[in-house]
Amino acid sequence: MENELRQLASESEKQLIGLKDLAALEVLKIEVLGRKGKLAEIMKGIATLSVDEKKVIGQVANEVKAAIETGFAAAESRLAGAAEESKNAAEWLDVSLPGVKPGVGHLHLTTQAIEDITNIFAHLGFVRSRHPEVDWDYYAFEAVNMPKDHPARDDWETFFIAGADGEQMTGKKGKIVLTPHTSNGQVREMEKGVLPIRMVSIGKCYRRQASARHLPMFHQFEGLVVDKKSSVTELKGVCDYFAKSYFGPDRVTRLRPYHFRFTEPSFELDISCGVCGGVGKIDGVKCKLCKEGWLELGGAGMVHPNVIKAGGLDPDEYSGFAFGWGVERTMMMRAGINIDDIRLLYRDDLRFIRQF
Ligand code: DAH
Repeated sequence: MENELRQLASESEKQLIGLKDLAALEVLKIEVLGRKGKLAEIMKGIATLSVDEKKVIGQVANEVKAAIETGFAAAESRLAGAAEESKNAAEWLDVSLPGVKPGVGHLHLTTQAIEDITNIFAHLGFVRSRHPEVDWDYYAFEAVNMPKDHPARDDWETFFIAGADGEQMTGKKGKIVLTPHTSNGQVREMEKGVLPIRMVSIGKCYRRQASARHLPMFHQFEGLVVDKKSSVTELKGVCDYFAKSYFGPDRVTRLRPYHFRFTEPSFELDISCGVCGGVGKIDGVKCKLCKEGWLELGGAGMVHPNVIKAGGLDPDEYSGFAFGWGVERTMMMRAGINIDDIRLLYRDDLRFIRQF
């Protein structure tokens, strides 16, 4: 028995040397010193010994147990030290190294333009407002003086919304459409009943069209002023201020007579060409961009009395002016942004987006 005990001591000493980590040490500890371990197994035999033998073997057993335990404790501290060391090596960090720059994106070109436009009009006291993109045809057409079945509605190439049954959806105020222009916001703004109005409503518009110059989804900004006194002179002043702020101080605008159902009189607003300086010629040769000195920006006019009425106001008391231009179109005309195909804006090609 004494031999068995001494053998266990030298055996576990050897095993401890070969251990790789703390987990293996734990397993070995249970195997040797555990309640059902090797030492306990040998000690079971003590019961069969005489009293004298018990004394001797008991002493040897205590020595052996203490020696084994000391061996385990030493191995444990050795392995714990090694574990700490390798953890330190793995987690070592040089805090003095220059950091890795996180990738920084930027706002989309259209969002930048919307912010610029909003800020310019804010200087003139225009407040940005928002109106529904999905609206009743009442606000898109009837309210802005385009009665039901009026042929002028055809120009707006409108998307109509169908329900789950495939039928045209209608609501309280007519058919449900994707707004083909931001002019739906005019009467909606008047209905709020807060006067005078100086709003710039910027939002998405939808039309059945797709080409290098047209998209089924695009943005417009709609300016609307309604007050006791407003005039074409004021409208011209606002257009000029915008053109000079957005395109540069040397640009001028002109109002060209036109026709819209919702304004009377109506105009198209032109801006002097930035390439030929509004002359239409460069060294005697026709300007390739404008051909005649002017570029078309968008529509404008004095709000039609029927629109004022639809807004619940008295046209003898209130008048106003309005304008509506495409955001993408306006932005693409700005110097330095030479985009010849509007569809590029929304193709999500980072090589394109990153340029701006
Ligand atoms: N809604 C018109 C369009 O989409 C643009 C427009 C023209 C808006 C004249 C106006 C305006 O407010 O007065 O083509």
